[in-house]
Amino acid sequence: MTVSEIKEDIICDCTGTTYKKVQQLIDDGATTLDEISDATGVCTGCGACDILVLEMLEA
Ligand code: FES
Repeated sequence: MTVSEIKEDIICDCTGTTYKKVQQLIDDGATTLDEISDATGVCTGCGACDILVLEMLEA
């Protein structure tokens, strides 16, 4: 795996949370941004990732 591939896998730069981790939480039953934020810290920094997490929740 290249560095750029690892970078692309990050959904939240502030916390280093990966798409895979968020998907895992959704698969485990998380339905809200708050639940995912509580579990991973996403959206507790700059907040730029919230739209991406919401898109995953709606998918
Ligand atoms: S990228 Fe997620 S809080 Fe900044």
